[in-house]
Amino acid sequence: MMVAGCDVGSLTAKAVIMDDEKILSTHVVAATASPVVSAKAVMDAALSQAGLDLNDLEYIVGTGYGRKQIAFVHDVVSEIVCHGKAVNWLVPSARTVIDVGGQDAKAIRLDSAGDIVRYAYNDRCATGTGRFLEIMADALELRLEDMGEVSLRSRRPAGISNQCTVFAESEVVSLVNDGKAVPDIVSGLHRAMAFRVAALAKSIEVAEDVVMSGGVAKNVGLFSVLGDVLGVKMKKCGTDPQINGALGAALIARAAVRSQAR
Ligand SMILES: Nc1ncnc2c1ncn2[C@@H]1O[C@H](COP(=O)(O)OP(=O)(O)O)[C@@H](O)[C@H]1O
Ligand SMILES: [Mg+2]
Repeated sequence: MMVAGCDVGSLTAKAVIMDDEKILSTHVVAATASPVVSAKAVMDAALSQAGLDLNDLEYIVGTGYGRKQIAFVHDVVSEIVCHGKAVNWLVPSARTVIDVGGQDAKAIRLDSAGDIVRYAYNDRCATGTGRFLEIMADALELRLEDMGEVSLRSRRPAGISNQCTVFAESEVVSLVNDGKAVPDIVSGLHRAMAFRVAALAKSIEVAEDVVMSGGVAKNVGLFSVLGDVLGVKMKKCGTDPQINGALGAALIARAAVRSQAR
């Protein structure tokens, strides 16, 4: 039984194709201005990687910010539910999921079945989202994917006093001009962001195990500092936390087919 999940986020589109218990292919592309186009591009890539055609898929679930515009899905489900399902499948002991994506962040409490107990959401302020890191990577002329490693070389993290992304960017430029070491600046930025994300997570009362989901979980520096700020040892999940929304959607598609067969 082959199914798929497609997650069209604000920054990237993700697709996962599954055959029962097995993940056949996963793919991530940068989102375009059109969710319709991004969804097709990422699904085509995942299908060709698996050597399949759209008609081979029995059921497809869409999620993410652009989910309502995906042409080929049979159903749509919220990202919160999808991240919850994926993390429960990957780490059954998880009771808190922190999903930080390109333009939003979510903290989700799960029960042992992976169902949502409560959640909190931030899509109002860039500082607790991946957008903050993108802007700072540009300001520092660093690659986004290198920020985590760079920050691990820090000896004395810089204090970042501005809470607002725009003002924090000016602060970063001043710190560079003052000769502050780049690893210390990046580490200070991760700390500032981690406090924001931790405040969101604390609003739903963090319970262990805590798992980070979404693209920002790939940033080893932020991942480690967030665990420190929360006072927990966070768990890693799967091989690519960025595809969790699409994985959860595929798992929901699989459950839909199984319940139809009954
Ligand atoms: N290789 C990487 N290393 C570090 N951070 C990354 C990497 N790839 C993506 N990111 C982070 O992930 C964010 C996008 O996350 P994603 O979950 O794909 O967003 P969305 O679901 O909102 O489209 C980016 O803003 C960036 O901060
Ligand atoms: Mg997302």
